[in-house]
Amino acid sequence: LNVAVIMGGPSAEREVSLSSGRECVAALREAGYEVVEVDAGPDLAMRLSHISPDVVFNALHGRWGEDGCVQGMLEWMRIPYTNSGVLASALAMDKEKTKAAYRAAGLPVVDSLLADKDEVAARHVMAPPYVVKPYNEGSSVGVYIVNEAANSPPQLSDEMPQTVMVEAFAPGRELTTTVIGDRALTVTDIITEGWYDYHAKYAEGGSSHVVPANIPREIFDACMDYALRAHQVLGCRGVSRTDFRWDEARGLAGLILLETNTQPGLTPTSLSPEQAQAVGVSFPELCRWMIEDASC
Ligand code: DAL
Ligand code: MG
Repeated sequence: LNVAVIMGGPSAEREVSLSSGRECVAALREAGYEVVEVDAGPDLAMRLSHISPDVVFNALHGRWGEDGCVQGMLEWMRIPYTNSGVLASALAMDKEKTKAAYRAAGLPVVDSLLADKDEVAARHVMAPPYVVKPYNEGSSVGVYIVNEAANSPPQLSDEMPQTVMVEAFAPGRELTTTVIGDRALTVTDIITEGWYDYHAKYAEGGSSHVVPANIPREIFDACMDYALRAHQVLGCRGVSRTDFRWDEARGLAGLILLETNTQPGLTPTSLSPEQAQAVGVSFPELCRWMIEDASC
């Protein structure tokens, strides 16, 4: 099979995607595929029609690559592609709509609202502590934590979109579970000095991962169950990764879903490849599974 790995692109997660893409290219070559690397620019459709791949391996993250845009283009071109389709991608990329879907399925979340950026910068739109984030970006790009003692509202950068999400701060540990098809893999407990920001995510030694997480069985099983249900309620395909916060002091009631990533990172410090490895699926095997699962 002839595979085009699409990566890079114009999103805020461009560098993350280039790193995921490089790993995938190497793994797919190791698994015996013919691989072409494509940095996704405005001429993507033209380049793909020229290459005419059997499958597109989508290694993009963030806007345009994870939100249904590129998926729609690939449907139109009738090229099978990895991971979720148009609707699930668009739904999961919008953190507020994701939460509406979670709520409808009875999955636990914390309160949040969408607000105009100028209003958020002018006054506390929610009692601190709370978090302000773009409703449609990943990798913790543009996340502001407003702590309990903050007198003034956050000064948001110009890059923040006009509409932002304001979410009650959920204290506790960062847990995550990857789903492959109809199987939840395991739970990772992410340990960081501060919070799990861009640096902690991608710098060597920026965080440490305990996999399988050393947490009570009840919480472990709940993460596995919630991640699979989240994957299903959003209509995901292929691989997804659902992120949680767990406030230990509150037991099961302290476990909430933050979001589901339909294009989880595949970089050397990413969580999903590590979880696959922990259950005996090597990275080339994971990539091969994704190619076999691709459709349009
Ligand atoms: N948004 C990054 C790539 C992740 O969730 O892994
Ligand atoms: Mg994310």
